Amino acid sequence: MIEGGLPFPPPCILGHEAAGIVEGVGDGVTDFAPGDHVIGCLNSWCGMYKFCTQGRPYLCPTQFVGRREGSRPRLTDANGVPLSQFANLSSFAENILCPERSLVKIRDDMPLDCASLIGCGVTTGLGAALNTVKIPAGASVVIVGCGGVGLAALQGARIVGAGSIIAVDVKRWKFGLARDLGASDCVDATDGDPFAAVREITSGGADFVFECVGLVPTVQQAIAMTGRGGTTVLVGVVPVTA
Ligand SMILES: NC(=O)c1ccc[n+]([C@@H]2O[C@H](COP(=O)([O-])OP(=O)(O)OC[C@H]3O[C@@H](n4cnc5c(N)ncnc54)[C@H](O)[C@@H]3O)[C@@H](O)[C@H]2O)c1
Repeated sequence: MIEGGLPFPPPCILGHEAAGIVEGVGDGVTDFAPGDHVIGCLNSWCGMYKFCTQGRPYLCPTQFVGRREGSRPRLTDANGVPLSQFANLSSFAENILCPERSLVKIRDDMPLDCASLIGCGVTTGLGAALNTVKIPAGASVVIVGCGGVGLAALQGARIVGAGSIIAVDVKRWKFGLARDLGASDCVDATDGDPFAAVREITSGGADFVFECVGLVPTVQQAIAMTGRGGTTVLVGVVPVTA
């Protein structure tokens, strides 16, 4: 967003990984009450579209905002000029006014700082490994990019019983945590050709490669690292112009 790769109309308040406690609810709200602990859900869903009723609300195309026509904007500056609300949340603010369908209830004993990560990074990575593809036990898996999303995908691969998990990153200090979470091999992408290193470890290419960086060269590497009959999963968000 800062670099313009994913444009969003300014002036705006960013932030989309939120967790907190409901302070108050509007007239039509039936699913939440003050005191509920919640996670922000960055894809608001309408509840009526086929994807919503089929249990895949994250695919809802409506961009549901839950605001009556003619209502005041949720966010304004001191002069009353509307501010864009990122993902219907703007979680870098201390308080959020959002549609009820932007929230998911959680248990009260979940620490909110950890819970917030479920709002995007953890769900994205874990979901890619658990839901987007079906990784058979024993499969070889490569994770390109060991940030928040990649490490969540790595944990998903471990949970489903991948045989080998190769973590690729340009920062070596990421590898300690990657190993703790289940990586069997680590490849420093700044140290020679990561493609060649992965092909050697996997004897020709991996069964599943998750691209979790969001750059064109790493997307190309991920495809090249994928072995015959394998699957490349593109999780990273490349700039819209790429
Ligand atoms: N598909 C979705 O719904 C979704 C959701 C959330 C995030 N994302 C995208 O996933 C990507 C990762 O997000 P994140 O929060 O984990 O970011 P992050 O910055 O925490 O992690 C990125 C990692 O990639 C590594 N990296 C950078 N260049 C590399 C290279 N050339 N080779 C190997 N590793 C390299 C970095 O060192 C870092 O560890 C971003 O593109 C983000 O926009 C997608």
